[in-house]
Amino acid sequence: MTAAPRQPRRRDVIAAAAVLPFVPADLCAHAVAAPASLGAVAADKGILFGTACLARHIETDPAYAALLARECRVIVAQDDLKWAALRPAPDRFDFTRADAVAGFCRRIGVPMRGHTLVWHEALPSWCNGRIDVRTAAPLLATHIATVVGRYRSRLHSWDVVNEAVDLDDGRADGLRETPWMRALGPSYVALAFELAAAADPSALLVYNDFGICDASPKARAKRTAVLRLIDRLKAARAPVHALGIQAHLSTSMTFEGRGMTDFLNDVADRGLRVMITELDVADDTPSLGNQDARVADAYAAFLDIVLPHRSTAACITWGLSDRYSWLRFLESTPSHGDLRPLPYDDGYRPKPALNAIQAAFARLP
Ligand code: G3I
Repeated sequence: MTAAPRQPRRRDVIAAAAVLPFVPADLCAHAVAAPASLGAVAADKGILFGTACLARHIETDPAYAALLARECRVIVAQDDLKWAALRPAPDRFDFTRADAVAGFCRRIGVPMRGHTLVWHEALPSWCNGRIDVRTAAPLLATHIATVVGRYRSRLHSWDVVNEAVDLDDGRADGLRETPWMRALGPSYVALAFELAAAADPSALLVYNDFGICDASPKARAKRTAVLRLIDRLKAARAPVHALGIQAHLSTSMTFEGRGMTDFLNDVADRGLRVMITELDVADDTPSLGNQDARVADAYAAFLDIVLPHRSTAACITWGLSDRYSWLRFLESTPSHGDLRPLPYDDGYRPKPALNAIQAAFARLP
């Protein structure tokens, strides 16, 4: 079952960026005027730029589809490859929406990223109480073989395991208590990577997590725990090729160049590439006003630390327009309905965040 470990080189991750997107005329009709696409500016500096989206938005909003086609060199299926979307019943797969995203990617000439094979959220209700010692391994094996197998050799990369670390759960190994952990123990993480590599030996396989970007003690501790997980995966010869840094940032975060660079060096020393996988910025101090400028500043501060690192190969935002941001639905965030976390506003007009991202790419050597 164990696939030969593969050290991805930067060009493995970037190769997809070389495919110039073909934008059909009907999509061009809605394109907004902007000087150069993020995808093009990033590709000039060896970085793959893209975003996450839903099949529903591609299908119902041609102007948004045009914006995606114009800006992106890679597209992530934001929700449509999750268990909740793919597994309506224990014995049935429904690829309708995932295939719609894959079809869109094919039409505009960019690769799709897979997100995500193993997560404790977005599980269908039939999973409740059904992931146990007896069922968990065959469930994972069937799921990963079927889903990864369907898109074999066609995806840019897979987020194989998502958010497996949570220090709040108090385990010595830093792992989160999830249904998969309770059923299979800590080895479920390596198992998932082995299953993914067996289903698509050419896929770039990513461990993806959040809360590791800023200068807080909590983020520092989590970075250490993530490195320890990577060490255990490497010791088990699990085929993990890249670290996905989600980067759901907020305007009150402070970033530390030294601490983050040390972490990126540690990741690179372990032979992994780095991808920024879910970038956006929530404003958690709305009373200060001037949200767009403060959001843009947070993008710049973070990207100026992470983009120049030799291991960083991709920069992916979690949506392109505020209109569809998941943060708008997050009731735990103050004034969530007024958040403006992404590069384009609700009417697809460019914002200071767009300029900040473009400028960060432009500053790269
Ligand atoms: O769009 C509907 C809206 O019409 C409706 O009024 C509202 C009612 O609650 O729901 C809206 O859809 C929700 C959507 O988030 C909004 O973006 C869905 O119910 C909800 O299931 C969906 O959640 C997704 C979440 O993962 C859980 O799967 C988000 O789309 C998605 O952005 C979020 O993404 C995660 C990554 O997968 C992993 N990292 C963190 C990231 C943010 O939580």
